[in-house]
Amino acid sequence: MRKPFVAGNWKMNTNGHTSVDLADRLASGSVESAGHTVTVAVFPPFVYLQAVGKALNGSSITIGAQDVYFEQDGAFTGEISVSMLKDIGCNYCLCGHSERRHVIGEKDELINKKVTAAINGGLLPILCVGELLEERKASQTNEVVTRQVKEGLAGLNDEKLAAVTIAYEPVWAIGTGLTATPQQAQEVHDFIRKLIGQMYNERLAQEIRILYGGSAKPGNAADLMSQEDVDGLLVGGASLKADDFLAIIQAAV
Ligand code: 13P
Repeated sequence: MRKPFVAGNWKMNTNGHTSVDLADRLASGSVESAGHTVTVAVFPPFVYLQAVGKALNGSSITIGAQDVYFEQDGAFTGEISVSMLKDIGCNYCLCGHSERRHVIGEKDELINKKVTAAINGGLLPILCVGELLEERKASQTNEVVTRQVKEGLAGLNDEKLAAVTIAYEPVWAIGTGLTATPQQAQEVHDFIRKLIGQMYNERLAQEIRILYGGSAKPGNAADLMSQEDVDGLLVGGASLKADDFLAIIQAAV
């Protein structure tokens, strides 16, 4: 059985005060029982990671970074390495989030280097994939997701794949209030799981967690997670409200 996973991507939101306040509210929310049955992680902006980690200390909620760079150290102005993130207590990192692909311009090859470096350094990557609206309309969803999964995981052996979580985030559903229906999500998740089965083996396909992201909220969380291949949610906007995020965690228990 795959353990459900609820992740909160705070994106470029909060400040020094509100990030810690949000973390405090989550830590004191009733998620302790959930912590044993659900993996919960939040992804604050880099500069608040340490303070948020401290506020969550002793709770069952862990922290992750929204991005990472693949080089170990050196002249890479503005970048943050895997070991720096490990150093401050990060367990996870997002790789290839749609905003990094489509706003910043990251390509699959770079994303693959980040996924690989994360695993090699002991950080658990969440590889984000998903199609644009025009790609869905042109019936290219499977093709796009296949390319992003195959190129994102290129060169990873069975053992390394075991460290990976995949997040399916259709770009048209992110921040738009338009959620994929549970059936639409299930269709793509099932497709991705079968793809992993072809690329690796059936055991790894059954073990890998595949999260859905895109306008997930308390009102649709349970329906989405009731789908066989939807193992949890990567939540954006609703993860900035403690009550909403706690309700989504509860829906995963
Ligand atoms: P929203 O939940 O705000 O649509 O964002 C989804 C997302 O991009 C999470 O990574």
